[in-house]
This record gives sequence, structure tokens and C-alpha cells, in this order.
Amino acid sequence: MFYEPKNGHGLSHNPLKAIVSPRPIGWISTVSTEGAHNLAPYSYFNLVCDEPPMVMFVSDGWKDSVRNIQETGSFTCNLVSDNLKAQMNASSVNAPRGVSEFAYSGLTPAASQLIAAPRVKEAYSALECVAVEIKQLKDRQGRSTESHMVIGEIVGIHIDEAILSNGMIDTAKARPVARLGYLEFNTVETTYEMIRPRWKDGEG
Ligand SMILES: Cc1cc2nc3c(=O)[nH]c(=O)nc-3n(C[C@H](O)[C@H](O)[C@H](O)COP(=O)(O)O)c2cc1C
Repeated sequence: MFYEPKNGHGLSHNPLKAIVSPRPIGWISTVSTEGAHNLAPYSYFNLVCDEPPMVMFVSDGWKDSVRNIQETGSFTCNLVSDNLKAQMNASSVNAPRGVSEFAYSGLTPAASQLIAAPRVKEAYSALECVAVEIKQLKDRQGRSTESHMVIGEIVGIHIDEAILSNGMIDTAKARPVARLGYLEFNTVETTYEMIRPRWKDGEG
């Protein structure tokens, strides 16, 4: 089958997120100017560059996470490991502004080292980020959409040494949870390595 998004897919459910899959989950914690903590998962999320290290996530609408980041300038991305997947899902609740999803999900907010936004104490890893840009996305005709992309520079990284083996992150220990399509998720439990090819002068 082939379809143009503007014409609809004709299936019972939208297949697009199942095609761009699996997607990492940015578990975003923030604080408002009033000091209220907020936590929510975002799978329009990724690490986007190395130097300086930056991440981005996209809010479909002007959600509390983006509003808090605009107000206080920082956010934390917490790692969702398999043992925290129920809490991650609970934290997606559409709680009224000012209600802490940390408390609702049974999680502990811990102070960050360098930024105002708290982190999830129970998470194996957390990235402390300073907001660089909040960008309202436009379509190809230049019309504004309801999507807001937040780009943040990672200024501090927490790692629980329990997930290290021989000085490297052991993904089989961290067991990160990924978002698939529909209501499906996957836990990464196995890995394999592939060596990249190198083009040698004078060959091929
Ligand atoms: C696994 C998962 C991924 C999600 N990804 C996104 C996303 O990328 N963008 C978005 O706007 N909402 C996403 N949501 C929904 C938000 O988490 C939900 O709307 C939440 O209430 C937003 O919280 P906030 O208003 O406190 O920021 C996702 C939910 C789940 C469970």
C-alpha cells in the first residue's frame, strides 16, 4: 500500500508511529516558577548532537512541560528502565497544572546538581539540560502547527554505577524501554555489535 498522509491511511489505526519504531522515551522533569514539580514521558525525543551534547523533544500542544521550561529554563531527561515502566506510564496522566506526577506515580524527586528542574531519583540515569530553543514547528507551506520542539543542551549527566560493566553502560542491565506503535512498548534486553566498514585508499 501507499498513502499520502493528507489523504488518510484507510487502516483502523494510524501506522506511522509503528514505522518509526522503536523510539526512545525522554522522561522529562521540570519545575514551574511557583516551584511545582512536573514529570511526563515524550517519545518524540532524541539525542540530536554531540558537541555540545543536545537533546530535543516535541510537545503536541502547549503542555505543562514546555510551559515550565519556558518559565524556568531547564529540564531533566530521565532514563526509563524496565523496572520503572509502570511509573513512566502513570506519569503521562493528564493531571491538572500544579499537581506533581512524581507523587502520583510513586516516584521521588531529587535535586539536580546544576539546574532547577528535579530528576527522578529512582532512574538509572538522568541528563540535566538547559533549554536552548523552543520552536513552534511549521508545515511545508509555512503554516504554524500545534507542535513545539524543545532543544536543550546537556550540562550534567547522572549514571548509577549499577548499570556499568567494564566502564561501559551495559544495556542489558539498564533495560531501557522504547515506544513502538499504538500502545506497544519494548524493553531492550539483548544487544549485538557490528563493526563499521572503512574505505581504504587505493582499494575498491
Ligand atoms: C510513552 C509515551 C510517550 C509520549 N510521547 C509524547 C510526545 O512525544 N509528545 C507529546 O506531546 N505527548 C506525549 N505523550 C503524552 C504526554 O506524556 C501526556 O500528554 C502528558 O500528560 C503531558 O504532561 P505535561 O502536560 O505535564 O507535560 C506520551 C505518553 C506516553 C505514555
